[in-house]
Amino acid sequence: MTEFLFPEPTGGTTQSLARSGLASFQSRDDDSTAPRQIQSLAQHLALATFILMGIGSATRVMNAGLACPDWPLCYGQLIPTNQMNLQVFLEWFHRLDASVVGFGTIALAGLSWWKRPSLPRWTPWLCSLALFLVVFQGILGGLTVTQLLRFDIVTAHLGTALLFFCTLLSITILLRPYDALGTAQALKPLSVLAVLLVYGQSLLGGVVASRWALHQCLGGEALCQVMNSHILGVFPATIASVALVIWANLKAFSKPPRDKSEVEENPQAPSTKHLMPTPEVS
Ligand code: HEM
Repeated sequence: MTEFLFPEPTGGTTQSLARSGLASFQSRDDDSTAPRQIQSLAQHLALATFILMGIGSATRVMNAGLACPDWPLCYGQLIPTNQMNLQVFLEWFHRLDASVVGFGTIALAGLSWWKRPSLPRWTPWLCSLALFLVVFQGILGGLTVTQLLRFDIVTAHLGTALLFFCTLLSITILLRPYDALGTAQALKPLSVLAVLLVYGQSLLGGVVASRWALHQCLGGEALCQVMNSHILGVFPATIASVALVIWANLKAFSKPPRDKSEVEENPQAPSTKHLMPTPEVS
């Protein structure tokens, strides 16, 4: 499995490079800028998606989800100039930004397959997953409108947005050069638990919001279970996340610094220099 993710390059390498994932594409030195291009595009898309999620949330809290009653156009037009107000603008701009992110993700997936000889093997697959998620998200977005904000579709829309955003972040972070400490494996079980608890809590929050659970509970005792589960869910998600941060720091500081000469003195080890910032010449 790890061979698939980080295949051994020809000509030998060090353990740390293999762990960092750089080894797999450094050896096939076809286009040394490819990892940076993909990383930069994924990073920009992650930022655009973060903003898009903020606009989506604003659309929700402003009750603007049905401000454009049709889909994919808004009042049958590309730009509904006559109907424009704050609510219509939010919903319309959310769709516009989503299209930009969608086209950007098509470019990301296309570029990753085109440049795949110069990239770690997992890259085109993870970029394709991002493409799949954004297409699915677009379909869910359309359904939120045509199904009149059905709570399960709105919650799935939120859940897919989080998955898509995390996929872009993963591509960005995995393509960064780093000097692995070899402690990541030990953090795996706790990090998986923390991720699942935080993701579950986010989805529960989506259900609370899309079913107006707080109002219903305060108004007539309905959906109090959903509300209470969301309140109680704060504890396991927070404890697991804080424990993960503490444990990761303890692990990092208890590890003696690695011998860098191990990497630099190996003449056959692939260079990482092109991924490092160029020092300024005065
Ligand atoms: C990459 C693409 C997209 C992302 C990341 C995204 C993200 C989000 C997020 C995070 C929310 C807030 C959800 C909540 O608070 O529960 C939202 C709301 C919304 N999104 Fe999207 N969205 C995308 C594409 C679309 C598309 C293509 C449409 C098409 C109409 C759409 C329609 C909506 C609507 C109507 C809401 C408001 C739902 C409500 O009022 O309950 N989204 N979006």
